Amino acid sequence: MAEVVIVENSAAAGELVADEIARLIARRSDAVLGLATGSTPLPVYAALRNRLAGVDVSHVRGFALDEYVGIDPSHPESYRSVISREVVEPLGLTPSLIHVPNGAEDGIEHAGAEYDAKIRAAGGVDLQILGIGTDGHIGFNEPGSSFASRTRVKTLTVQTREDNARFFDSIDLVPMHCITQGLGTILEARHLVLLAYGEGKAQAVADAVEGPLTAFLPGSAIQLHPHATVVVDEAAASKL
Ligand code: GLP
Repeated sequence: MAEVVIVENSAAAGELVADEIARLIARRSDAVLGLATGSTPLPVYAALRNRLAGVDVSHVRGFALDEYVGIDPSHPESYRSVISREVVEPLGLTPSLIHVPNGAEDGIEHAGAEYDAKIRAAGGVDLQILGIGTDGHIGFNEPGSSFASRTRVKTLTVQTREDNARFFDSIDLVPMHCITQGLGTILEARHLVLLAYGEGKAQAVADAVEGPLTAFLPGSAIQLHPHATVVVDEAAASKL
């Protein structure tokens, strides 16, 4: 079972995970971080700004979980842009060492396998940060995703498009497809750290941590991992 850590609020969660990441980078200056988007990891990135001030992070490598398909990488809401803005620039990471799946429609049929090969060539992810969707998705692995899945194109559910519509001018502008690391890819990271805050995530957290293993709750895949840590506030832990 995953180790569950209950903290007071999202800022405390951010500090805790940032500490772990700073220790990792102190041990290995070319650590491989698994980066996530969404609002959940933001307190981690904020805390890392202090923790890593004065630390040489020029060799740190990173792999994002997912990307929309069919929006230009320069679009402010592409995950490429989000990762640059929220992680690479503020932390002073080396842009060429931080990878995001290629969501360009041209060549999309090979993009997943190419991304998995890049992760393998880097020696795998040391620490993977994860959020969880209200429907239990991790990365963009929507309900029904195979536990053995690799990086590939998926169709976004209506729920996820609605949840993410706040980042676009209208729901019609939210892409229909994405490319996401598969659950099998994610499970290969050496340490999974799943964060969640607020009552809205309580059911998904309980299902992921204690529910049956099922493709209908992709987050439940973390139960298969030998080193998974779940960091939640009281509200997100309320159904455990
Ligand atoms: C998005 C991302 C996920 C993220 C989830 C939750 O769809 N692809 O990686 O975990 O939504 O988002 P939030 O953290 O904003 O609640």
